[in-house]
Amino acid sequence: MKILLTGGAGYIGSHTAVALAALGHELVCFDNLSNSSADVIERVESISGASFPLVVGDIRDGDGLRQAMTDHGVEAVVHFAGLKAVGESVADPVRYYDNNVVGTLALVGAMADCAVKTLVFSSSATVYGQPQYLPLDENHPTSATNPYGRTKLMIEEMLADIAAADPAWRIGILRYFNPVGAHDSGMIGEDPNGIPNNLMPYISRVAGGRLPELSVFGADYDTPDGTGVRDYVHILDLAAGHAAALGALAKLDRPLSIWNLGTGQGYSVLDMVAAFERVNAVKVPYRLSPRRAGDVASCFASPDKAKAELAWEASRGLDAMCASSWTFERARAMRNTKA
Ligand SMILES: NC(=O)c1ccc[n+]([C@@H]2O[C@H](COP(=O)([O-])OP(=O)(O)OC[C@H]3O[C@@H](n4cnc5c(N)ncnc54)[C@H](O)[C@@H]3O)[C@@H](O)[C@H]2O)c1
Repeated sequence: MKILLTGGAGYIGSHTAVALAALGHELVCFDNLSNSSADVIERVESISGASFPLVVGDIRDGDGLRQAMTDHGVEAVVHFAGLKAVGESVADPVRYYDNNVVGTLALVGAMADCAVKTLVFSSSATVYGQPQYLPLDENHPTSATNPYGRTKLMIEEMLADIAAADPAWRIGILRYFNPVGAHDSGMIGEDPNGIPNNLMPYISRVAGGRLPELSVFGADYDTPDGTGVRDYVHILDLAAGHAAALGALAKLDRPLSIWNLGTGQGYSVLDMVAAFERVNAVKVPYRLSPRRAGDVASCFASPDKAKAELAWEASRGLDAMCASSWTFERARAMRNTKA
C-alpha cells in the first residue's frame, strides 16, 4: 500500500516507517518538524534501504494534505502528528485543541475528499482516565484528566461519528500504553526537542550527563514501592502493532476498531531506574518529588483484544527496552560530536 504517515519524522512514526517499509509498503512522511528533524528521514532510509519522501507541512493545512495524497497516490494514512506533553496542554490548551483536534479534522476532511478511507490513529491509554479496574481493557469507561487527554478523546469520538456515518471507512484506534526503547541500530529513538516529558528519554539524558538528576513524581502511591506503575512497551513491538492493524483493517468487516497496544505488565519508576542501571552499568541519580497533578498510581493494559484480532503481542522485555535506549543515547552523542 501507499501510506502517508503524518508525524512520520517523530519517535513512533519513524520506527513504524521502518516496520512498514520492511513489509514492502511505499511511504510518504507529512510532518511540520515541530518536534523532530529532517535528518530522521535520512536515517529511516538508511536503515530500511527504501525511500521515504518528506513533505514538510502542517496537518491543519487541508490543501497541503490533499496535494500530498494526490501527488503520492496515497491509499491509507497512519496519523501520528500531534502534541503530546500533558503539562504543556494544561498551560496552553488552545494550542493543543488547535493542533490535535483541528488538525485531525482537516486530515479526515482531506482524506474524504481524496477518497482515502483507511486510517490508523495514535490514541493513548490516557483516555481511560482514573482506572476503575486493572488491567484496562478496551471497554473500560473513558474520561480525561487534562487537555491533552481530552484532545485524544474528542478525536476518538469524532472518528466514531465518521465511521457511523459512512461504513466504507476502516479506522483503527490504537491506544498506546508507554512506548520506550529505540531501534537496535541506535540511529533512531526518542529525541524530543527540549526537556523530555517521558520517563525513558529523561533517564537516558541523566545517565548520559545531559541532565543532572531525575525527579520521581510521587513516592506515596498505593504501589509496591510507592512510585507510579506503567505498562512500558518496546517501540519495535509498538511499530509492529501498526503493521498488524493495517493488515487487519483490510480484512475486518466493520468501520471502526479500537485496540490497546501494551504488554499487560506494569513496572514502577524505580523498577525502570534499577533496570536501566543494571542493564547498562550506569548510574541514574534521582530525587523523590511530590506527585504531579493528574497522574494515576497504576496503569497497565489488557492486550488480549490485540492478540486475538491482530495476532499481535509484545515480545521484548525490560532489558531490551533499557539497552536500546542507552545505545541510542550514546549514538546520538557520537553523532553530535562529529557534527
Ligand atoms: N510517546 C508516547 O508516550 C505516546 C503515548 C501515547 C500516544 N502517543 C501519541 O502518538 C503520536 C506520536 O507520538 P510520538 O511520541 O512519536 O511524538 P513525536 O513528538 O516524536 O512525534 C510527533 C510528530 O508529529 C509532528 N507534528 C506535530 N504537530 C504537527 C502538525 N500540526 N502537522 C504536522 N506534523 C506535526 C512533530 O513534528 C513530530 O515529528 C502522538 O499523537 C502522541 O500523542 C504518544
